[in-house]
Amino acid sequence: MCGIVGYIGKKQAAPIILDGLAKLEYRGYDSAGMAIFDGESIKMMKSAGRLQALVDLSHGGDLLPGTAGIGHTRWATHGKPSDLNAHPHFNTRGTISIVHNGIIENYQALKLMLEAKGYVFQSETDTEVVAQLLDFYYRGNPMEAVTKVMHRVEGSYALGIMFSDHPDEIYAVRKSSPLIVGQSEEGCFIASDVPAILKYTRTVFYTDDQEIVKLTADGIEFFTVDEEKIEKEAVTIEWDANAAEKGGYEHFLLKEIYEQPETVDKTLSPRLKDGRIVIEELGLTDEEIKALRKIYIVACGSAYHVGITSKYIIEEMARIPVEVDVASEFRYRNPILMEGDLVIVISQSGETADTLEGLRISKRLGCKVLGIVNVVGSSIAREADNVMYTWAGPEISVATTKAYSAQLINMYLLAIKLATVRGAISDAKAAAFIKELNKLPEQIELLMGCKERMQKFANRYVGAQDIYFIGRGIDYAISLEGSLKLKELSYVHSEAYPAGELKHGPISLIDKGTLVVAVLTQEELYQKTISNIVEVKSRGAFVMAVTTVGNEEIEKVADYVVYIPQTDKFFTDSLAIVPLQFFSYYVAVGKGCDVDKPRNLAKSVTVE
Ligand code: G6P
Repeated sequence: MCGIVGYIGKKQAAPIILDGLAKLEYRGYDSAGMAIFDGESIKMMKSAGRLQALVDLSHGGDLLPGTAGIGHTRWATHGKPSDLNAHPHFNTRGTISIVHNGIIENYQALKLMLEAKGYVFQSETDTEVVAQLLDFYYRGNPMEAVTKVMHRVEGSYALGIMFSDHPDEIYAVRKSSPLIVGQSEEGCFIASDVPAILKYTRTVFYTDDQEIVKLTADGIEFFTVDEEKIEKEAVTIEWDANAAEKGGYEHFLLKEIYEQPETVDKTLSPRLKDGRIVIEELGLTDEEIKALRKIYIVACGSAYHVGITSKYIIEEMARIPVEVDVASEFRYRNPILMEGDLVIVISQSGETADTLEGLRISKRLGCKVLGIVNVVGSSIAREADNVMYTWAGPEISVATTKAYSAQLINMYLLAIKLATVRGAISDAKAAAFIKELNKLPEQIELLMGCKERMQKFANRYVGAQDIYFIGRGIDYAISLEGSLKLKELSYVHSEAYPAGELKHGPISLIDKGTLVVAVLTQEELYQKTISNIVEVKSRGAFVMAVTTVGNEEIEKVADYVVYIPQTDKFFTDSLAIVPLQFFSYYVAVGKGCDVDKPRNLAKSVTVE
């Protein structure tokens, strides 16, 4: 969702801001803008549409000279995408400029109050209220105005703020929206995420909720909302700027699909020591594991699908009951959590608003929360009791691939660990699982070879209206993810159904030529799903089956078959998802879709 970049220092700010915003494009946006202090006043340019429109408008930033500025990519929530609603927003006098990521929940009440005092609003946004409210409280002391506003506004926000009578300062605050701060010899930065500033510095500070940051060309100061100074330690970012570049691939998505063998290896290897699983960061004693009554998994999107796969695995392998919830449902359903229950929140970004709230509710109810997170230092990583990081590196494409694969690995490791400690499986069985896990990177690599075949097959479905995915057990979870990838990337309507549930409704939608993708990697469910394939075939469906090498007799019923290497039944998701990722990718490419930034979607969903 919205991206923020700010810079103050020795260099021209506009090109740095445009470059940073380009690095944040993956977050999803529909307009862009920036405000630069030119020595006399704050000048602003903004435009609906792609960032390139702002680049063109500002001649690459040349038309906005100055060494301090803030920029923004907006993902519309309040008010349509338009030039007017794009950020930055100003107070009426044009002396205070802000960019905002988040939602001001009480903006209507605040707007009424300000209108009654004569303030006139230009845009439909909640953000403009903050600019006007700053004006309302401003008496020449930025800190004072900022803290007063923080006490009045409700909701979530990361804000970059400039006051025209304090040209050597930029202020930033955050509450439940991401904001990082960077420092180099050439100046100081704020940004929604590390890739925006990685070209300029690896020295980063993570801000906490309700903290205020004051940036000047020479340094950064942090304050509490009571204006008390805070000391913060800088973190050095280890990963390379190249990790956030396309590196010769046509799309980030394709690059990230190809990175999966390495990602899986990086996530797996550090937790395997002398043939045993060691999860140092788990934070649960063996006694606590043995006493576990229930596990709740809370997540959104693909991470939720990892949760569904994990439920099948943990329940069968470790015999612990697992409930999986979409975070936006979990947070409002008054879940019956008990002290001693374990809550696992899964999130690539670590910033998903609903997942974060699920975490907070769980902690309030006395449960330990384990985060499975990719972004180091993100809100979920910092608020969870313990974090098992996925070492996928920066994932830029909005639709997840490699982070999903890494999340699966962490959940496999966790399931084996829980099962071993509780005596549900023997050490020998655990060792056999580990052996299979070790093969996964190579097996995923092997599956990269199905790219051309999937491309050819996908080309036939560029004009498809509806595509259905079916499977049972873990194959159903794989179907959910396959179907979501297709929807996200190619805008083709798609549904995933438990294969046995088809005849309770969706089979009526099967028509001559409808593509049904059937996933059959679970041996004990294989024949059952074959029967469902026969049912849809006899209604005219064209069936593509994804199954394990050795199941060749499927060719008698399916029209097109993709084979995955043999692995343990618990780990098939890691393999079967790869051809489905390629399929979705090539349908999207064939349709000319914006693969890395699908319409209406955002990578980091920081509003509920
Ligand atoms: C968005 C992304 C999805 C992702 C979901 C959850 O919808 O487009 O790819 O699965 O958010 O994000 P998270 O960062 O919490 O994993």
